[in-house]
Amino acid sequence: MKGSTKIQPQDVIAPIDRRLYGSFIEQLGRAVYTGVYQPGHPAADEDGFRTDVIDAVKELNVPLIRYPGGNFLSQYRWEDGIGPKDQRPTRLDLAWREIETNQFGLHEFMKWADKVNAVPNMAVNLGTRGIQEAADLVEYCNFPKGTYLSDLRRQNGAEQPFAIKTWCLGNEMDGPWEIGAKTASEYAHLANETAKAMRRVDDSLELVACGSSSMDNPTFGEWEETVLDECYDNVDYLSLHRYYGYYNDDDPTELDNFLGKNLDLDAFIKGVVAMCDAVKARKRSTKTINLSFDEWNVWYHSNDADTKVEPWQVGPHLLEDVYNFEDALLVGSLLMTLLRNADRVKIACLAQLVNVIAPIMTDTNGGVWKQSIFFPFMQVANYGQGKVLVDHSQSATYNSREFKDIPYLDTVTTYDEANQTLTVFAENKHQTDTLDFDLDLTDFTVDHVIDATQFYGYDVKADNRDGKMQLQPLAVNASGHHANVTLQPLSWNVLRFAVK
Ligand code: AHR
Repeated sequence: MKGSTKIQPQDVIAPIDRRLYGSFIEQLGRAVYTGVYQPGHPAADEDGFRTDVIDAVKELNVPLIRYPGGNFLSQYRWEDGIGPKDQRPTRLDLAWREIETNQFGLHEFMKWADKVNAVPNMAVNLGTRGIQEAADLVEYCNFPKGTYLSDLRRQNGAEQPFAIKTWCLGNEMDGPWEIGAKTASEYAHLANETAKAMRRVDDSLELVACGSSSMDNPTFGEWEETVLDECYDNVDYLSLHRYYGYYNDDDPTELDNFLGKNLDLDAFIKGVVAMCDAVKARKRSTKTINLSFDEWNVWYHSNDADTKVEPWQVGPHLLEDVYNFEDALLVGSLLMTLLRNADRVKIACLAQLVNVIAPIMTDTNGGVWKQSIFFPFMQVANYGQGKVLVDHSQSATYNSREFKDIPYLDTVTTYDEANQTLTVFAENKHQTDTLDFDLDLTDFTVDHVIDATQFYGYDVKADNRDGKMQLQPLAVNASGHHANVTLQPLSWNVLRFAVK
């Protein structure tokens, strides 16, 4: 099979906002307790943070981390997580029916985020709480000094304000599962008034309003319109959440369908962009609302196991999906889709980061291992720099149960002008055929191939619990304005060129 692309320097979709490679830590399952935070563990530092986990997070080069939830957020009292640890209350977490000891809270998260070189994407509880508590949290975090809350922060060890820029106004407030779920108009009013109050404390904030928690929710569309109608002037982003599953293991055609799910992600993004712009036009506004895709991933492997977990434990094994090779292929494809929409998706968070539907796992023997999805995420987050270029790729297509015209070749190119580097991400979705990929580099001249890797050859159901998965070298022919490479069936590939 043949495939091609044309890479033109002037064809720019958008500069890449590195927050597109964000992730998410929720106070849920073992994300925090025995994940990020485990005092007494041989690899724990002076703050009780697992240094082996910190090293793995740094490899992913995640620039922004959403915290503290998730569903957990909607019943959380942020004040429980500050001050002397021995005075912090132990509470019931009604979202996940766990015990929350609050030994890890705001200051611990901020310190940890700093150690992994990430900034926070902080969320305020609009489920059981509201305007005052949100404004208080902004004051506690961002006001320099001289007020009760800012001085309390200083007393708790942070002399300098945290200067948190990006904030989520609640989580999945359209979801009936959410504690304190709201109708669209209830949420719109609360989010708008909360945004106004938060901005009075600090007018430099960037605020994210909740969009639909899934495109499948019955209120999708109506929710976005109602929320934006009321909040348009006081928010900067609208959120989207989407998780994908593989529902029929016995049907061999299901893999083709699964690998086409990035078309669904694309349609979701384009639909929400259209809604944002329709409200913009109706309001005759000059302001553009961009998107924060603040939860996305594959999530289904742990569903059955989770129904058997005993409630009211600290750090239970919840949402511990073990990802296989086909999941890594889909995650690669989803990342490329986010990149192709980088003109409007400015923030995105892989949900989540450690132990809970995560690329990084800690095991019961005290070690750390990397899931299959770690590899494509790590490569895109590290190498997808600069600008995204328009995709002019061509290849044969296929149809599946849900999707039509899925290209076998899925590819996107980024151009880092400062470092004169062109990075081509490419996936061959064909189950049996290689793909002869021809790259017309037009005005770019190849100086040399920096490196090229392929991720392939694993059984689609294989996972990386044994730590054996690895990227392999890929042979590329490149000279002048042209390159050519063979993409193996079911493979994820990354080509990096130094260009002139
Ligand atoms: O990421 C897991 C959960 O998925 C989050 O808590 C919630 O926001 C979403 O439903």
